[in-house]
Amino acid sequence: MRYSQFSQRAARWAGAAAALAGACLLSGCVWFDGPQSTLVPEGPVARDQLRIFYVTCWVTLFIFVVVGSVLAYAMVRFRARSEADEHAAPPDQGHGNPMVEVSLIGASVFALVIIAVPTLKGIWYSFDVPEDEKANAYEITATGYQWWFKFEYTGETAQTLDPTGKPASAPLTTGNELVIPAGRPVRIALRAVDVIHSFWIPKLAGKVDMIPNRANHLWIEADKPGYFWGQCAEFCGESHAVMRFRVIALGPREFNEWLNNQMAPARRAEAVPGKPKPQFAAYRTFRQNEAGYTDAFEASPLDAWRRQQKPDDAEDTDLIAKGRALFQSKTCVSCHTIRGDGAVGVTGPELTHVGARTTIAGGLLENNRDELHRWIHNPGAVKPGNKMWVSGYLLNNIKLTPEDEDALVSYLRSLK
Ligand code: CUA
Repeated sequence: MRYSQFSQRAARWAGAAAALAGACLLSGCVWFDGPQSTLVPEGPVARDQLRIFYVTCWVTLFIFVVVGSVLAYAMVRFRARSEADEHAAPPDQGHGNPMVEVSLIGASVFALVIIAVPTLKGIWYSFDVPEDEKANAYEITATGYQWWFKFEYTGETAQTLDPTGKPASAPLTTGNELVIPAGRPVRIALRAVDVIHSFWIPKLAGKVDMIPNRANHLWIEADKPGYFWGQCAEFCGESHAVMRFRVIALGPREFNEWLNNQMAPARRAEAVPGKPKPQFAAYRTFRQNEAGYTDAFEASPLDAWRRQQKPDDAEDTDLIAKGRALFQSKTCVSCHTIRGDGAVGVTGPELTHVGARTTIAGGLLENNRDELHRWIHNPGAVKPGNKMWVSGYLLNNIKLTPEDEDALVSYLRSLK
C-alpha cells in the first residue's frame, strides 16, 4: 500500500471515530441517567462535584482540540505526496524554540489553575456542612460491615422506646435503608468494624472511605423527596459487589411519621375479623446464584417504599406467632435485634421494622415473600461468604423445613 493511500485511510477512520464519539457525547444526557448516575445529580454536593467534572472536561477537551488540530495540520501539510517523497532524506531537524517552550509551560500552568480553583473550593464545600446550615443539619452514623450498612440516628430526638413506651438508651438503628429528611443537610459520620468500605450515593455525593479506627464523615442533601441507590465502592471481600443500600428522602411530615413508627418496638400483627387467612405457596426451590437481582418496582420506587410501610392485606397471626417462636429457637436472636421481641444481637442488621424496608440482604434483593424465602432458605447462595450463612447456619447447624420458612417469612413481613 502506498504511503499516501495509507494516510488517507487513516484519516477516514479517525473522522469516523470522532463522529461516533461526538454522537455519544451529545446523547449522553439521555444514556447516562440511571439510578446510579453521577451526571444527573439530585443534591447540592453532587451538583458541585459534577460542576468540577465539567470544568475538567472542558479544559481537557480544549487541549485535545488544539493539540489534535496541530497534529492533523502537520500530518496533512507535510505528508509524502509522491513516490520520490517517500524515499527523500528527512528535512533539517530543529533544536527547540524558547518561545514555543515557554508558552507551552505557561499554557499548562494556566490550564491547571483553571481546574484547581473550583476543585479546591469543591473539596472545602463537600468536606462539611456549610457554617450557616450547621444548626439545621441532621446527624447520622453509618457503619460498614461485611457486607451491609448500619445506620444510627445519633442526633436530635430519635429515641427508641421500650415495650412500655419509656425511652430506651440505644439510638434508633436501621440497616441498609437510610431514611433522611429532604431539603435539609445530613451529616453522616462514617465508621467500619472489619475492613475498609466506601460509602457512595452517586446522585447525592461522591464516595468517602469507611476505615476501621478512623473517624471520617461526609454530608449529603436531597433536593426533594426521592429514592436513591447507594453502594460500597471499595473492595471489601467476596461479596463486595453486592454490598448495597438505599437512601429514602422524605418531606418533614412524612419523615417524622416514619421516625415515630421506627422508635416504637416490634409491631404485633392483630387478627382482623372477617379477613380470609391467606394460602401460602408450597415449598419453593431457588436456583443458586441466579441472575435477576432486581430493582424493578411496579410503581415509582418511592411509592413502592410507601406501600411497604403498610401491613400486608391478609396476615396469618398463628403463622406469625410460630415465626416469632422460631426466630428465638433457631438462634437468630443472637445476631439480630428485634426490639420488644427479645432479640438483642448486634452482629447482623437490626430487624425491628424490617418488613417496612424495600430491600433485604444488604440492599440486594427486593423485600417480598419470594425473595425472603430465597434469602433465608440459603443465604450463602445469594451473598457468598456472609456471616448469617457461615457463622449462623453452618456453625449452628440450622435446618429449616418449608413450613418453618413460611412462618419466618410471615413474621418478618409483619414487622412494619
Ligand atoms: Cu464494603 Cu466493598
